[in-house]
Amino acid sequence: MSDVHVSFNLANDHFNDQEMFLPPAPLLAGAHVSGINAYHELYRNSINNTDEFWKTVASELYFERISNKGLEWNFDHKTGPIFCKFMDGSLTNISYNCLERNIKRGLGGKIAYLWEGNEPSDTSTITYQELLDQVINFSAVLRAHGVKKGDVVAIYMPMITELAVAMLACTRIGAMHSVVFAGFSAESLSARVTDAKCRVILTSDGFYRGAKAINLKEIVDKAVQIASADGVDVTSVIMVEHAKRVTIPEGARPINVGKLSSIYSSYESEMSRLKGTDSPVEWMEAESPLFLLYTSGSTGKPKGIQHTTAGYMCYAYLTTKCTFDADLQNDVYWCTADCGWITGHSYLLYGPLLNGLTGVFFEGVPTHPSPSRIWEITDKHHVTKLYTSPTAARALMAFGDSYLQSTSRNSLRIIGTVGEPINPSAWMWLYENVGNKHCSVVDTYWQTETGGHMITPLPGATPMKPGSATLPFFGVAPVLLDSDGRVIEGPGEGNLCFSRAWPGMMRGVYGDESRFVKTYFAPFNGYYFTGDGARRDEDGYLWMTGRVDDLMNVSGHLLSTAEIESALVAHLKVAEAAVVAAPHDIKGSFPYAFVTLNHGEKLTKELVAELKVLVRHKIGALAVPDIIQEAPGLPKTRSGKVTRRILRKIAEGCDTGLGDTTTLIDENVIKQLISGRNSKG
Ligand code: WTA
Repeated sequence: MSDVHVSFNLANDHFNDQEMFLPPAPLLAGAHVSGINAYHELYRNSINNTDEFWKTVASELYFERISNKGLEWNFDHKTGPIFCKFMDGSLTNISYNCLERNIKRGLGGKIAYLWEGNEPSDTSTITYQELLDQVINFSAVLRAHGVKKGDVVAIYMPMITELAVAMLACTRIGAMHSVVFAGFSAESLSARVTDAKCRVILTSDGFYRGAKAINLKEIVDKAVQIASADGVDVTSVIMVEHAKRVTIPEGARPINVGKLSSIYSSYESEMSRLKGTDSPVEWMEAESPLFLLYTSGSTGKPKGIQHTTAGYMCYAYLTTKCTFDADLQNDVYWCTADCGWITGHSYLLYGPLLNGLTGVFFEGVPTHPSPSRIWEITDKHHVTKLYTSPTAARALMAFGDSYLQSTSRNSLRIIGTVGEPINPSAWMWLYENVGNKHCSVVDTYWQTETGGHMITPLPGATPMKPGSATLPFFGVAPVLLDSDGRVIEGPGEGNLCFSRAWPGMMRGVYGDESRFVKTYFAPFNGYYFTGDGARRDEDGYLWMTGRVDDLMNVSGHLLSTAEIESALVAHLKVAEAAVVAAPHDIKGSFPYAFVTLNHGEKLTKELVAELKVLVRHKIGALAVPDIIQEAPGLPKTRSGKVTRRILRKIAEGCDTGLGDTTTLIDENVIKQLISGRNSKG
C-alpha cells in the first residue's frame, strides 16, 4: 500500500448546492424515464394512483393468481397495529420470475452471469437455462435434506455462482434464505443460525480473498458447535468444493478442510445423485416470507429483517429497471456487492435477473492482483452499468489514476454507489476520471429494511449534484422531522422518515414483533424512521448526513457500537467500553474504542492485540477498532449514561467545542481522555 496517496479530506469535502450536472444526452434519449418532467409526472402518479401504478408494474411479471388488492398499510399505532401488505391474496414465485419467465420469453441461451474469480485466470459463464437446471436440481437436494416451505436455510458462501443457485433454490421451494456474509465470525454465524433455528447450512470448503486463504469449513464447524450448545442442532451442512478447483494466489497457503463429520455432504455429489429429479415451484402467497437478512441493531443484537414475496419482487424489479435503466439488449451489468448484504440480494441477484440482464458475478476484491482489476473487468466484458461503494471509489482513487489509464471504460453508461454518503470529490472522480463525463452517477440511498432504492437519481432524468442522493423513488414519500416530531417543510435538516408504505419494505423483525414497532415506528408515530439524518436544499434535493442512532457506518457496513462494546467487555481485564465512529478518509468512518480497565491493569500492546482478536472472533474483521485508547473513566451524566457525543468529538481530534460538559459527574475525565489521545500520536 506504499503508493497510496489520499488526496482529499472527508471532513472538508463540501459541494456547492447550486451546481448541477445534466444527464448525458444519449442516456436521456432512450431512457425508461426520460427527462425530469417525465420523472415528476410518474412520481405524482405513483403517489396519487398508487394501486394503479403498482398494478402496471406487477403486470410485467408473472402471477399464478392475482387478487384485486393493492398496497395497504398503517403506520399509526394509535389507530391499530402497524402493518403493510401488497397484492394480498395473490400467488407468485420470485425464482420462477427470474428464471422460467425469462426462458419462456426466449432468454434461455442468454448469459445470466459472467463469473470472475479471485484470480483473473478463473472464469466461467452460466446461461439462464443452465441456472434454472441447477436451481431445480439443488432445490431437489434441499427437499431431500428435509427443507420445506417456511424453513430458514443459512447460507455462508463465497461469491460463486452456486451461491446464486442456492438462494434461488430456496425461494423456488418457499424456504427463506438467511445469507451470512462470509467475513463474519463463527459466533456471528451461530447467532444467526440459532435465532432462526436453521437446521441446514450451505457453505463451501473455503476461498481466497486477494492473497488471503479463508477456511470456511473450520468456521462452520465452530458455529455448529456453538449453536448446538445453545440448543439448535444443525442436521446438514452442504459444502461446495470450491477452494479445491481454483487457482491458489501467489503467497497463499492451500486450504485443507480435514475430516468431515457425518452432518456434511458434498454439493457436487448431492447434485449428481438427484440430477433429473422433478422439483416443482412452490406458489407463494404475496405476503408470505421470502428471506431473512440480519443487520446490526442499536441494542447490539442483530435484527433478522424479514421481506415478503410480491412486494419485494416488484420493488427490486422496478428499481433495477429505472435506476439502472435496464436495457435487455445491450446491458452487461455489474454490481460489486457481496450477496451477504442486501445490495447483493436486490441488485446482484433478484433485480437484474427479474430484468433478464447479463450480470458480472465477482469473487475477488477491487485491488487484486492490482488496483486496475475493476477497470480491466469493465473493459473485458464491456460493462455498461457499474454499481459499487463510495469506499471502493475512495480506495481506488487514492491509488492514483495510473491504474485507470491502462483501460478505456468506454462501455460504461451508469455508475452507481450505495451504502454510505459519497463525498463530492469521490463523486467527481467517478464522473470525470472513471466515466469520462459521459456517464450518469447515481448515488442511491436505501437500507436492508427498505428492500430497494428510496432516494436516488434516475440516470436519464435527474440532474445530479455530487454528494446528494437527490429525489425520492416512485411511491416513496420522504419527510424530515425535528426532534419533537414536527415536520420540517422546505429547506432544512432533520430525521429522515417515510410517511407512506412502499411494496419493498420489511414486514418485521424475525421472531420479535415488538422490536419492529419499537425501532422503526415508535420514535415518530405515523412514520417509518430510518435512523438517518438528512438535509433538504432549496431545490428539494436530499443530502444524507449520517446515522442519528448508535449505529456506525464503516466502509458502507452498518455496525452496532453496543455489539463491539460487549465484545470488548467480554475480556476479563476490561471493566467498561465505549465505541464511537471517527472519520476516516477511505472507510468513511472507523470504530474508535475507549476502554476502562480493571484496577491494576494497563493497556499494553499485547492487550490491544488481544482485544482486537476478541472483536474479530465475536463479530468479524470489519468491526475491529482501528484505535483502542485507555480511559481512566468515561464521561457520564449524573444518571450514569455515557455521553458519546463528547467521546465522538474527542475521537475526531477536537480539544474544544465539546458542547455542554457541566452535566457530567467528573469533568476531569475529559482532560485525561484528550491527553491520552494526544499521547497516542
Ligand atoms: C447508509 C445498504 C448515505 C444509511 C443498502 C443507511 C447511505 C444505511 C446511502 C443502510 C447513501 C446507504 N447515502 N448513506 N447513498 N446508502 N446509506 O442496511 O446510513 O447495509 O441507513 O443497506 O447505510 O445500510 P444497509
